[in-house]
Amino acid sequence: MSAQSTDVPPAKIVYSRYDSAQEPTQLETIRSLISSDLSEPYSIYVYRYFLYQWGNLCYMASDGDQIIGVVVSKLEEHRGGVMRGYIAMLAVKEQYRSQGIATKLVRMAIDAMIVGDADEVALETEITNTAAIKLYERLGFLRSKRLHRYYLNGSSAFRLLLPLKSQGIHDCNHDEDECGHEHEHEHDHEHDHGHGRECGGHDHEHGHSHSH
Ligand SMILES: CC(C)(COP(=O)(O)OP(=O)(O)OC[C@H]1O[C@@H](n2cnc3c(N)ncnc32)[C@H](O)[C@@H]1OP(=O)(O)O)[C@@H](O)C(=O)NCCC(=O)NCCS
Repeated sequence: MSAQSTDVPPAKIVYSRYDSAQEPTQLETIRSLISSDLSEPYSIYVYRYFLYQWGNLCYMASDGDQIIGVVVSKLEEHRGGVMRGYIAMLAVKEQYRSQGIATKLVRMAIDAMIVGDADEVALETEITNTAAIKLYERLGFLRSKRLHRYYLNGSSAFRLLLPLKSQGIHDCNHDEDECGHEHEHEHDHEHDHGHGRECGGHDHEHGHSHSH
C-alpha cells in the first residue's frame, strides 16, 4: 500500500564501450536507437565514419541485452592545432530518460577524450532542445555560437564548447569568429544531415573527405 510497493524497481543499467567485434549487432542497434529520435536517419556511412575511427569514444548504456542509450563522438586536431573532442550523437530511449543516463554517457566520452589529450569538447544542439542544453550546461559546456538555420529542417543550433584546459579557454571560447573561424559551413556533405534532435547536424564537423 505504501508508495514504494507500487514503484517499479530502477533498471540495472550497465555502461560499456563500443566493441568493434560486436559491430554486426551493435551498429544496427545504435543506428536504430539514434534514428528513432531523428526525422530522417543518418546514413550508415556516418556511423561507420565515427565508429571505425573513434569506437573508443562511443559508449552505450544497456538494460539487460537491450541498448537503451548511446553517445557517439570523435577526437581530432581542429584549427590551430587544438585537440577537439566532438559529440556527434546522443540518445537515450524515451522510457529511460531523466535518470542521468545521458549525463553518465557524456561523462564517459569526455573522460576518454581527456585521456586522448583533448583541449576542448564541442557539439551542436538545436536551440529548442532544452533537455540537451540543460544537460550539457550542467556539465560545464558554454554557448560559443549560434548557428542560424543550421539543420536542414531550418532550425538553428547552438554550438556548445567545454574547455578542458585553462590555456586556450580565453582564446576561442566565446565566439569562434573572433579567432577567424568564420567558414563553419564550407564543407557540407550530402549523404547525411541533421534533422532536428541530434547533436551533429550538418556534416562539416565530420571533416572527412569521402565522396558525395
Ligand atoms: C537529451 C537526452 C539524451 C537526455 O537524456 P537523459 O538520459 O534523460 O538525460 P539525463 O537524465 O542525464 O538528464 C540530465 C538533465 O537534463 C535535463 N533533462 C533531461 N530530460 C529533460 C526533459 N525532458 N526536459 C527538460 N530537461 C530535461 C534535466 O536537467 C536533467 O536532469 P534532472 O533530471 O536532474 O533535472 C534525451 O532526452 C534524448 O535522447 N533526447 C532525444 C535525442 C537528443 O535530443 N539528443 C541530444 C542531441 S545534442
